[in-house]
Amino acid sequence: MTETAIDLDWDLERSRARRTKRWSQYDRDIIDLTVAEMDLPVAEPVLAAVQDAVRRQAFGYPVADERSEVPQAASEWLTEEHGLTVGPDRVRLLPELMRGVTMSLRHLTRAGSPVVVPTPVYGRFFDAIQVAGREAVEVPMRAGDRGYELDLDGIDRALRAGAGSVLLCHPNNPTGRVTDRGQLETLAELAARHGARVLSDEIHAPLRYQPDFVPYASIDDNAITLVSATKAWNFPGLRCGLIVFSNPDDARLWATLPRAAVGGMSPLGMAATVAAFRDGRPWLREAVRFLADNRKLVTDALAGLDIGYTEPEAGYLAWLDLRRFGLADPAAHLLRRTGVATTSGADHGTSGNGFVRLNFATVPGVLTDALDRVTDCLLGG
Ligand SMILES: Cc1ncc(COP(=O)(O)O)c(C=O)c1O
Repeated sequence: MTETAIDLDWDLERSRARRTKRWSQYDRDIIDLTVAEMDLPVAEPVLAAVQDAVRRQAFGYPVADERSEVPQAASEWLTEEHGLTVGPDRVRLLPELMRGVTMSLRHLTRAGSPVVVPTPVYGRFFDAIQVAGREAVEVPMRAGDRGYELDLDGIDRALRAGAGSVLLCHPNNPTGRVTDRGQLETLAELAARHGARVLSDEIHAPLRYQPDFVPYASIDDNAITLVSATKAWNFPGLRCGLIVFSNPDDARLWATLPRAAVGGMSPLGMAATVAAFRDGRPWLREAVRFLADNRKLVTDALAGLDIGYTEPEAGYLAWLDLRRFGLADPAAHLLRRTGVATTSGADHGTSGNGFVRLNFATVPGVLTDALDRVTDCLLGG
């Protein structure tokens, strides 16, 4: 018998028993494919680290960043995984990535400057920009050979008009697109030319289907990068994310911010993060294989629909272009007619109107049922 890192004998009842948001938003007859979490058991090393922390009653305030193991574990992960050499002194902890976005926008970008957001994008980017007291400037991505690409001319124009930063989602939620090196290099040149900052949210990077991923920080020594183990290893409720400063001045300024601004991570999340980065590779490899099989189920199911769809290069979200059906609100229509809940494309920026986002990281039988319902409905008109 081969040793496996994931017990794939998992069913929805075990996900429901978690009593987290994932399966608590709707009645039982609805298949909810909105919340970005996976219906998979947590990695054994992560579970063991959390159980150990519980046994030790590690329920106090977290130790200071520089005395915790997390920056070192993250630094090793980034070096081994991406060849990105970044010392632990440049890695700081966050309770969640969006806090890192708001606080960096406030403190590390030109006062009051608007923020460029290539869209479609993770909807909470807009919340974070609002909380930071800034204006979002949407620059819709363009269709390229491999799917969505940054509109670099549009970004150039927005920076020229006064925007002070670009908030990149790399890999992108919801499209699953990994921006390539050439585009990242041009983006870095534009940022340098206009004195703007680039913030790169790389939370989905560990869940990619091919090896080529260029961390933005590898080409810009003024980058601000957001990473986390919570998404890839499926423990977002444990509260621990990371911000990585390429520029030492940013790290120095960050150290002066009050705890109320940047504190709030949990010792349980910190223990889980160290375990994930150090011992979570076998689980991650199997999780990606599982997701790749589900991705194929989606691709096969959509083949007969004649809709715009490009397989994601990373992550477990499918971005479906349903504009040809002329529905005012496709997500509401599908929910009403099929009992399958998807995220409205409009939540991802105005360029998402007419699209829906579907989380395919669920039990294959449930996914197949949902896909059958959605395709039957769309084919039936
Ligand atoms: C691109 C992206 N960034 C951040 C997050 C959430 O991170 P956090 O809960 O740490 O703010 C998500 C969650 O889906 C995401 O897709």
